[in-house]
Amino acid sequence: MCGIVGYIGNKQAYPILIKGLQRLEYRGYDSAGVALITDQNELVVYKTRGKVSDLEHFSTSKDTSGTVGIAHTRWATHGEPNDVNAHPHYSQSESIAMIHNGIIENYAVLKADLMARGFTFKSNTDTEVLVQLIEFVRQTNEVDLFHAVQLALTQVIGAYAIAVVEKNNPDTIVAARKSSPLVVGIGDDEFFLGSDASPIIEFTDRVIYLEDDEVVRLQRGKEPRIFNLNNVEKSHEIIKLEMSLSQLEKGGYPHFMLKEIFEQPNTIRECMRGRINVDHTSVAMSGIIDNKEKFLNAERIIIAACGTSWHAGLIGEYLIEEFARIPVEVEYASEFRYRNPIVHKGDVVIVISQSGETADTLAAAELAKSKGAFVYGICNVVGSSIPRMTHSGSYTHAGPEIGVASTKAFTAQVTVLSLIALTIAKEKGTMPKEVFERYVAELASIPDKMEETLQVSPYIEKFSRIFTYAKNFLYLGRGYNYPVALEGALKLKEISYIHAEGYPAAEMKHGPIALIDQEMPTVVIAPNKGHYEKVVSNIQEIKARKGRVVAIITKGDTVIRDMADFYIEIPETEEGFVPLLAALPLQLMAYYIAIVKGCDVDQPRNLAKSVTVE
Ligand code: G6P
Repeated sequence: MCGIVGYIGNKQAYPILIKGLQRLEYRGYDSAGVALITDQNELVVYKTRGKVSDLEHFSTSKDTSGTVGIAHTRWATHGEPNDVNAHPHYSQSESIAMIHNGIIENYAVLKADLMARGFTFKSNTDTEVLVQLIEFVRQTNEVDLFHAVQLALTQVIGAYAIAVVEKNNPDTIVAARKSSPLVVGIGDDEFFLGSDASPIIEFTDRVIYLEDDEVVRLQRGKEPRIFNLNNVEKSHEIIKLEMSLSQLEKGGYPHFMLKEIFEQPNTIRECMRGRINVDHTSVAMSGIIDNKEKFLNAERIIIAACGTSWHAGLIGEYLIEEFARIPVEVEYASEFRYRNPIVHKGDVVIVISQSGETADTLAAAELAKSKGAFVYGICNVVGSSIPRMTHSGSYTHAGPEIGVASTKAFTAQVTVLSLIALTIAKEKGTMPKEVFERYVAELASIPDKMEETLQVSPYIEKFSRIFTYAKNFLYLGRGYNYPVALEGALKLKEISYIHAEGYPAAEMKHGPIALIDQEMPTVVIAPNKGHYEKVVSNIQEIKARKGRVVAIITKGDTVIRDMADFYIEIPETEEGFVPLLAALPLQLMAYYIAIVKGCDVDQPRNLAKSVTVE
């Protein structure tokens, strides 16, 4: 949801900023822009609708010199994605330029006030209002840029990560954050800024994660200094990044999404490393063990999340209720935060988020905390906002996920939820020892079974071509596989723009069956566990109406194999772990259909990976 980058040092800023924008493009790609203080001491802004490659094209033969600059890739909130609304935005006198990720909620009031004072506006953005306000404060209070930013922000309601440069001040960048992420990279005589660490890791592994309401002054040749809005200096911890550059590259795959699908056996191994013992007889999730009493005494657990993470949460509900016998409710974070939910002191609220930055999930966690619940985070991005504000949590260790459609983060979330369910079950004694050990051993075998599952990729590539004509898809599953049906449908919608609906298989007869004909394919997740016979009946009902069926079946199942138009075999596993295997062919199907349709799978239209606005 908008990516921001900044550089000040001895090197040429432009190539560093462009590279940084490319790494952050997953956060938005409606428009891109850069502001530089050139070697001629000019503050130039180049920006255009489209992607970072369009910006590079646009800037060819322009003066891109200079060792200080800021850059932005946008996911539009206020104002349509066009050249004028693209960031950076100038102030009235064009002596200040600013980039922004977030939303200024009271922009209309501020804008009206500035207009009454003679300010004019070129764009429809809330960002231009803030940069004009900074200029106004700077002029009327006769303060320097840093203090002008501080003072202006005291008038702002909303969320922001901003970076600001000033024409006659080529040795300084001022940046600030509230509810939108911002990372400062510390190199040798140079500083970097990024919405996350990905634009920084190539140059330095030393970073500071800014906290809410902090403003940082990055000055050539000086230490970074951080203050709050009341000008009280804040201490800061320099963190060493664990990420490696190769994790941010495509590694020979045509798209990040395909690379990430194929990474899953390894990400799940990483996710389980140190959590399952070597002889596969026990599980230890430290976040749960350290807070054992909270989980053992919890009368219920609430899981809150958005998008794919919410689907993982639904699987978590089935796992925790079955293994640990604690009632679980799963909520969309966006609904939970606004409906005055009943949360008791003893409740445990688990929030799940790949990015750790989703605005609604963050707000749900804050609400739960304020009501006295114990809040546990399951996140992928280390050091992001959610893990820093929750009481405890577990990382998924899936590594950076760049493709906008979530794949490896989903299976890693389900793995963490499985480990959590098993850990609580062990502590509570809700599972006989031999059953527990059978499950642990089975979970440990999932990465190998994923490798086996992924071998169907060439077959899926071939038959997926047939379905590019489809305008609608139905995905059906029961029990643990109902959320998998939802996730399969979401993947297809996100990247191929084909309408798809996920349904509990038994609900088909209450509506969707009316849609079934030769034109609408149905994907049925039908492993030999759970309600096998009932799903077989559903397939017969679809076939009787001339519907075409793609079935995900357990290896060796000849019954459904003979009924379905296409079938994909997955290895046998425990019912609760089927989602970890069944999700893979659905991801591949969505990928290959989107490819044949010529869609941009890594950057689907209108979507962004990290949704830091409501
Ligand atoms: C966006 C992404 C989805 C993701 C959702 C929640 O919509 O495109 O892939 O599932 O946000 O994100 P989170 O980072 O909180 O898991």
